[in-house]
Amino acid sequence: MSKTVILTGLRANGEFHLGNYLGAILPVVQLQKQHAGEYQVNMFVPDLHSIVTPVEHGTLYQQSIDNLKVFVAAGLDIANQDTYIYRQSRVPAHSELAWILDCFTYFGELNRMTQFKDKSAQLTDDKTQSESSISAGLFNYPVLMAADILLYGAEYIPVGEDQRQHIELTRDVAIRMNNRFGDMFVVPHEWSKQLEFTKLDKGVRIRSLRNPEKKMSKSVEDPAGTIMLSDLPEEAVKKVSSATTDSLGSINYDWGKQPGVTNLLQILALLRDVSQNEVNEQWKGKTNYGELKDAVAEAVKACLSEIQGKLSKVNDQEILVKLEEDEVKMNQIANQTLSDVQKKIGLRP
Ligand code: TYM
Repeated sequence: MSKTVILTGLRANGEFHLGNYLGAILPVVQLQKQHAGEYQVNMFVPDLHSIVTPVEHGTLYQQSIDNLKVFVAAGLDIANQDTYIYRQSRVPAHSELAWILDCFTYFGELNRMTQFKDKSAQLTDDKTQSESSISAGLFNYPVLMAADILLYGAEYIPVGEDQRQHIELTRDVAIRMNNRFGDMFVVPHEWSKQLEFTKLDKGVRIRSLRNPEKKMSKSVEDPAGTIMLSDLPEEAVKKVSSATTDSLGSINYDWGKQPGVTNLLQILALLRDVSQNEVNEQWKGKTNYGELKDAVAEAVKACLSEIQGKLSKVNDQEILVKLEEDEVKMNQIANQTLSDVQKKIGLRP
C-alpha cells in the first residue's frame, strides 16, 4: 500500500527567513524525524510560482539549488528512500493539471484570496507595477498550488497560516471534481487536522520584529524586522534585542494587546520544540522583557549557527544527483494522476 504523503514547497525568489523556516521547513524536518519510514515526504521548489511576481531571472536557477541545499542543512534527510526533492518546472504535469483545475475553479473564489489582494496591493504600492500589470499568474497562483498537492495525493501540507486559504481552496476544488466525476483526487485534510498533525494549536505566523502587526517577510521594508537564515548569528541577536515590544511591563501571550512580546513567545516555543502553553506559563507575568529577548536571541543564534555550519558542507552535486533521480519518479506519479484525470473528464478514451 502506498504511504501517506506529506508535501510542502517554498518558492525560490530569494533566500529564506525565519518565518519560512518555522512555518514550513522545520515542521517537515520534525515530521520526517518522528515518523521515519511511515510517510512519503515531498519537499519541492515551486519555481513556476517564483515568477508570478518580479524576480531576478538571472539567478533563479541557482537560487532553486541553493534553497534545496538549505532544506538539507536544516535537517531534511535526503538519503531517506521515502523523501523526494524536485523542481516544479521539471514535472510538466503540474502546469497541465493546473489548467484543468482552472476550468473548475471559480473566478469569485480566486478573487477572494487575501494573499492575491495583499501581494497585488504591495506591488502597486511599491510602484514596481501598476495595477494593470499585475500578472494573471499571481491571480492563478492558488490553482497551480492545488495541482502541486493533488497530483501526489498529499494529505498533509505543512505551511504557514498565510497559506490556509489556499489549502481550503484546494479541498473545495478537489471535492467539487470528485462529486462530479467520481473519486479522482485524495482530498487533503482540513486545516484543524493539519494543525493537529504538526502538534500546533494555531497556524504559524511569524511577525516582523520591528512591526509585529505585519508578517515577517522578505518584502517588509525594514530588514531589521526580518531574520534571514543567512544572517550572521550576531547580526540576528541584534535584531532580536531591538525587537519592538510594548510599555505594559508584563509578559503575556496576547496577540491583540502585546503582539511584539507574543511573537517572541511564539518564536521561542517553536525553536525549542516545546508547546506554546508551556512557554507561556514559564514567562507569564514576568516583567523583564530583556530576559525574554535574551532567551529568544540565544535560541535563534543556535539555530542559525547549526544551519549555516551544515550548509557549508552540502554541495551542489549531491543535490543534482538526488534531483535527477527524484524528478524521474515524480514525473511517473504525476503523469499517472494526470492521465486518470484526463480520462475522467473526457480528454482520453
Ligand atoms: P512561499 O515561498 O511564499 O512561503 C514558503 C512557506 O513559508 C511560509 N511562511 C511563513 N510562515 C510563518 N510565518 C511567516 N512570516 C511566513 N512567511 C512565509 C509560508 O506559509 C509557506 O509555507 N504558496 C506557497 C508555495 C507553494 C506550496 C505549494 C506550498 C506552492 N505550491 C504546494 C505547499 C504545497 C508559498 O507561500 O510559498
